[in-house]
Amino acid sequence: MYSLARKALFALDPEVSHELSLDLIGACDRLRLMKLLAPKVADDPVEVMGLTFPNPVGMAAGLDKSGDYFNALGQLGFGSVEIGTVTPRPQPGNPKPRLFRLPEHQAIINRMGFNNKGVDHMVAQVKKRRFDGVLGINIGKNFDTPVENAVDDYLMCMTKVYEYADYITVNVSSPNTPGLRNLQYGDSLNSLLESLKIEQRHLHQAYGSYVPLAVKIAPDMNADEVSQVARALKDQGLDGVIATNTTIERDSVQGSVHADEAGGLSGAPVKDQSTDVIRHLKAALGDALPIIGVGGIGTGADAAEKMLAGASMVQLYSGFIYRGPELIGECCDAIAGLGTYNSV
Ligand code: FNR
Repeated sequence: MYSLARKALFALDPEVSHELSLDLIGACDRLRLMKLLAPKVADDPVEVMGLTFPNPVGMAAGLDKSGDYFNALGQLGFGSVEIGTVTPRPQPGNPKPRLFRLPEHQAIINRMGFNNKGVDHMVAQVKKRRFDGVLGINIGKNFDTPVENAVDDYLMCMTKVYEYADYITVNVSSPNTPGLRNLQYGDSLNSLLESLKIEQRHLHQAYGSYVPLAVKIAPDMNADEVSQVARALKDQGLDGVIATNTTIERDSVQGSVHADEAGGLSGAPVKDQSTDVIRHLKAALGDALPIIGVGGIGTGADAAEKMLAGASMVQLYSGFIYRGPELIGECCDAIAGLGTYNSV
């Protein structure tokens, strides 16, 4: 069924098709028709960051940026849905066009620029939660907040969503917000994480519940840089790391009509780069904190590869756009076939 729908959707402009698909999923949810869209995915619980995920396959951040569709998306079989990236104030994102398909590479280039309705809207949405899987909330900074003051934006979002999130992701790896990726390095990363951990302690006390904090990193790092990030994550006592976001590399898509569009490249071309980062992270982290593997998963075998590289669970984005909900079950089966998990 998805391959038929995909033919129609892929005939449309990518962003129109993106919005239409989400609206359709939302409508099916309201009409209680979701069971028709999604094959049943068997429970296969996995412990990550102290949370029990119903299965090890999650929806990655960026599809549901404002928290409008996670109840519906959860019913497609994902064990977790990560919403956001959300910013303190609503913002329109970059001018259109800003989303491009590269079907010959099973890839996407986007420079959306954190278009979202702001954290207050998201909080109102998550108060209406019906999804009983794990809900992650991915936070960022407004485009016009100077990078030197980024911590204020992260703290504001974290404080507002803490009560409603099962885990919170600090996004320092989008290539579409100028300067954001600088927060992944050296003192900037250490001081950002230190402030967030202090706030996490306050919020833990205030609400009596501990909400794990993960950091999402870019694939465009060499082994040394990954080791430095790993050290900061360990030193600051982070709860998890999500590897990876999109890449600014274009080598593998040269010749494609959209290859030179600015933004982040995702899907099959980022797969090996992401897996390398996971491997380096695992070597540096050991069992200190879990890795959530994302980037270029388009088959069950790709998901298994991330787990073998050191991930404790995986997330999907581009592969889900190209393959539809059947990819979720395929990945769950492939991971179950491995028999063991990196339970950290
Ligand atoms: C993303 N991604 C993303 N990540 C994030 O942390 N915050 C965000 O707002 C977005 N937005 C976004 C929009 C679009 C259109 C795409 C394609 C991707 C990155 C995404 O979560 C994932 O990390 C990468 O796309 C790599 O995984 P895939 O797509 O190769 O499976």
